[in-house]
Amino acid sequence: MQKDKILVIGASGQIGVELTLALRKIYGNNNVVASDLREQNPLLEGTGPYVSLDVMNKEMLHVQVIRQNITQIYLLAAILSATGEKNPGLAWHLNMQGLLNVLDIAKEEKLHKVYWPSSIAVFGPTSPKQNCPQQTIIEPITVYGISKYAGEFWCNYYFQRFGVDVRSLRYPGLISYKSAPGGGTTDYAVEIFHDALEDKKYECFLREDTYLPMMYMPDAIRATIELMEAPAEKIKVRTSYNVSGMSFSPKEIGEEIKQHIPGFSISYKPDYRQAIADSWPQSIDDSVARKDWGWKEEFDLAAMTKDMFDNLGKTKG
Ligand code: NAD
Ligand code: SER
Repeated sequence: MQKDKILVIGASGQIGVELTLALRKIYGNNNVVASDLREQNPLLEGTGPYVSLDVMNKEMLHVQVIRQNITQIYLLAAILSATGEKNPGLAWHLNMQGLLNVLDIAKEEKLHKVYWPSSIAVFGPTSPKQNCPQQTIIEPITVYGISKYAGEFWCNYYFQRFGVDVRSLRYPGLISYKSAPGGGTTDYAVEIFHDALEDKKYECFLREDTYLPMMYMPDAIRATIELMEAPAEKIKVRTSYNVSGMSFSPKEIGEEIKQHIPGFSISYKPDYRQAIADSWPQSIDDSVARKDWGWKEEFDLAAMTKDMFDNLGKTKG
């Protein structure tokens, strides 16, 4: 069988940087081509090939796939929830057309696998707030959520109709120290660490009691790779899998941070992102992912907070 060669689209983003580095460890540096519209993230420099690529340019994307002998695509380019509400048309266009371009090329070139992330943003105010199940009422109110829900069904359609092996996870909010988040409603849970280290205080754009599902980046990267490496017959959900890590409110993460930064204080000034957060579930039931391909998280709030400070402490001195 042909050795896999992977194209990561959106490799300079919050997930892309860490996923590219993890894939390079597994598949070899030269077998993972990083690509993005913006310049290469400094953390990727010297670790493997990089091409400048706009996922909206289907012809150029197709040329790269053929030229580089690509067999798998990880599509991470998207506009996230908060930025999406500022420009709904652009968010819909990128999130949908980017996916359709990749799925079409995967079909034509008979790629081995495609990865495309969905989000907890598919859920809306009518979905259960606690332990939101895999299958439930799904009525998203953001353009981002609508695009993710439509995207899930495009993935299912390309799998059922054309046999494209496309796999997907509904990520919760992701917390990381290597690369910055890109315009989501859960970004506060990353910003708070930087402000705690720099100023010992943080002004949060969500209310103190806003519980949201979250996951630490090492768990998210492992979930992604475990899903992609699972035998095809174990992947029973071809829309997108619920996955869960932890759930906390701004007040709770503030209390946890105080254990590491005595004197840290948090204040609250909710803005337009509050309505987005209020529409999402507070916690997620991921029992289907656990049963189908053995998902299990490693990091809870305390372990994640400690690891964030251990690592940010090293980079910020
Ligand atoms: P990000 O905004 O940090 O990164 C996206 C990257 O895509 C950026 O580097 C951007 O330059 C690039 N990009 C934008 N338009 C492009 C184009 N036309 N062509 C090529 N590249 C382009 O986003 P992220 O947080 O890394 O998210 C990656 C994926 O995971 C997205 O689909 C997002 O919806 C999903 N997701 C993220 C989270 C999270 O908390 N970060 C949660 C749920 C789902
Ligand atoms: N973290 C993402 C956001 O807030 C969830 O998809 O948009």
